Amino acid sequence: MKLYDAILLAVLCIGAISCGDSKFDLKPESPSITEDPDTPVEPGTPSESNRNEQYRPQIHFTPFKNWINDPNGMVYVDGVYHLYYQYNPQGNSWGNLSWGHATSTDLVHWTEHNVAMTPNEWGMIFSGSAIVDKDNAAGFGKDAILAFYTGADAHQQQCLAYSTDGGMTYTQYEGNPVITNTELGDFRDPKVIWHEESKTWIMLLALGWDHKIELWGSKNLKNWEKYSTFTTDCARSNIGQWECPDLLRMPYEGGEKWVMIVSNNPGGPAGGSGIEYFVGDFDGREFTAMALDYPLWLDYGSDNYAGVTWSNTPGGRYVMIGWMNNWNYCGDVPCSPWRSAMTLPRELSLKNVNGSPLLAAPVIKEIEVIAGEWENSADGFVGEADAFEAKFDVDLTENSVFRLENSYGQYLEVEVNASAGKMIVKRTSTTGETGFNNLFSVPSISAPFNSDADVMELHVFVDRSSVEITSADGTMCITNIVFPRESYNRISGVGAISFRKFNSIW
Ligand code: FRU
Repeated sequence: MKLYDAILLAVLCIGAISCGDSKFDLKPESPSITEDPDTPVEPGTPSESNRNEQYRPQIHFTPFKNWINDPNGMVYVDGVYHLYYQYNPQGNSWGNLSWGHATSTDLVHWTEHNVAMTPNEWGMIFSGSAIVDKDNAAGFGKDAILAFYTGADAHQQQCLAYSTDGGMTYTQYEGNPVITNTELGDFRDPKVIWHEESKTWIMLLALGWDHKIELWGSKNLKNWEKYSTFTTDCARSNIGQWECPDLLRMPYEGGEKWVMIVSNNPGGPAGGSGIEYFVGDFDGREFTAMALDYPLWLDYGSDNYAGVTWSNTPGGRYVMIGWMNNWNYCGDVPCSPWRSAMTLPRELSLKNVNGSPLLAAPVIKEIEVIAGEWENSADGFVGEADAFEAKFDVDLTENSVFRLENSYGQYLEVEVNASAGKMIVKRTSTTGETGFNNLFSVPSISAPFNSDADVMELHVFVDRSSVEITSADGTMCITNIVFPRESYNRISGVGAISFRKFNSIW
């Protein structure tokens, strides 16, 4: 371990111990769950809001109003991508956790629907996943959509609900909870995947501060048996609590590997929340990580958390969306009447970088449905644009600095530190509004190049309140939210760039 990493580890450990489970401090003293489950709150229609308020993202999903966090229950059915999400139907801060609901046919434009599930006798509706029951294994009907979530009350227990109307409404399974829990403090975020060889459904569950992922198996999706527990020796990974797991089977070098996704808070790479992953093998019961230089982060920025993948996608393609925020300051970000956005969806694959597998997470190709033609700019000026993608080369063999700027003189600075092999994003008070929370300003958000080339083509996705920077192949991703008075629209310090402007998705 390098000296810098050792110091960071010590600082994070102290932070983790002293902060405890800081995000659940956001929870009101006595949560008032006054919502009537039979009359879910109307999310509002675009005519009530043109989604054009200050800081409102124009190419990222946000709800019309109210609080969101993790993406949940993502499933593709009959040409429609369903996105459910942690949602407070009653306000703009964490509480009354329900599953809000939006759909898309292209992963870019979203239509918001009625809230799909609100708190019930098992508690709040915490995070989880959904699958299509093609063989009617559970008996709710062929092709029923089955949603697994954590009922969060005095204990966190795993519950099942099913939909026979294409994901618009859900009925609670009468045998809930399908996995009871009266002992563990943290036991949540069921992600259900199919294991073809054993013809078994596998459920992953995160044990928070125990830094464990449990794997359970079932044939009928109702009775579950515990198979194994995944842990790691990597001290850096054992700092925060583990949440929102996923397990992906991916082609790699003519064979295949399995990738275990774990969200970690507050052990993230930029402080607070982050998504890490382990590469290894899965035999249908147990996941074994191969020896690699852990921790490996899917995104080195401050604002990509709780990401999991859609199930049942065409061709088995892995598309992830993350919550574009961080438990360090999410309750204070200056957005109203909504709070938080999702990242741009990313397509995941494993790449061989210097002989090691690394997870790549570039933005999905579908983004081109809102893109104009590629244009060239000799001086990095884009003109008027709320949202655009820029691409340009950076020399990885020399130290340099570039900036994303707006006409108010606000800027986000990025240092290419060739000596350290890192890209360092400086989210300080130069970027715009930062004073709403003292953890928001982070002077050094650093990502390894994850490349052995001398030149890297960067892709930078700018929206009104976010900047997502990726290498062309997506093995280096840095996602950060920012609150400038207007979108940055000039990239200085790199010379000529190519760019394409995006139309609003609303
Ligand atoms: C992750 C998380 C999940 C939990 C949900 C509660 O951000 O803490 O573990 O299910 O948020 O809103």
